[in-house]
Amino acid sequence: MSTLDQIPSLGAGIGYRPAFREDIFSRSDEVDFLELTIEHFLEKPAKVEEDLQRLMNLFTLIPHGLNLSLGSAEGLNEAYVDQVAEFVHRVNPPYWSEHIAFTSADGVDIGHLAPLPFSDEALDALCHNVEQVRKVIDVPLVLENITYIVNMPGAEMSEAEFLNTLLERTGCGLLLDVTNLHTNSVNHGFDPYAFLDDIPLERVVQLHFVGGHQRGKVLVDSHSSPTPEEVWQLMDKVVERCQVKGIILERDENIPPFDELSNELARAREIGRRHKRWD
Ligand SMILES: [Fe+2]
Repeated sequence: MSTLDQIPSLGAGIGYRPAFREDIFSRSDEVDFLELTIEHFLEKPAKVEEDLQRLMNLFTLIPHGLNLSLGSAEGLNEAYVDQVAEFVHRVNPPYWSEHIAFTSADGVDIGHLAPLPFSDEALDALCHNVEQVRKVIDVPLVLENITYIVNMPGAEMSEAEFLNTLLERTGCGLLLDVTNLHTNSVNHGFDPYAFLDDIPLERVVQLHFVGGHQRGKVLVDSHSSPTPEEVWQLMDKVVERCQVKGIILERDENIPPFDELSNELARAREIGRRHKRWD
């Protein structure tokens, strides 16, 4: 298995969405690499298959999973793991990513990324599942921090301690979603810059960024708006401190003209250049 430090620098890219499919193909020089949501490609109607071939010819592709439910205490759906493995091996990426979360409980799909309690029991389940997945998928796995509206009961440690132990025990990289970090810091009243002091920055491989929206006093992680200035500033600090390989814009809702997305990529690319993460 290749190690994290063999991952090449990728630059600034975007999570592929059918809504801007034509722009991705016609303006491929404005996008350094692409993140593909694995679940969008597991069903293979001819159109998706054809697009996948074209995308593979144009870009480095990073598979990004949503539904593996790595935090599930009952273990993983093996048939699903096999499907994910087949896709990841087909794309042949330098790494792939999933979330520090669970999406099913007792075999029931709960339809979104649910946070885990920061407990020893949750860590054990997560580490066990990651180990199972890595037996089947021989490509470095990078794990992403998610947002949480409530602190899950049963916590025995901080989120930073949880991340440290998880990454130490599994050897996985970190996909640091700077928008999620910003969102959690606003909703739970902590300093995101101090959080950076407490996590293993040498494990950071990739970043996510985007804007959300405000609902009352709560910041909602809706992937629906331009990236706010606070997130750009936090990203700058993260890129300064970490050997970031790639930065991905993950816009899902309220998709604007591609010029707006391309401008955000140019700004992220420039941050990476300024800190000498790529040319
Ligand atoms: Fe994300």
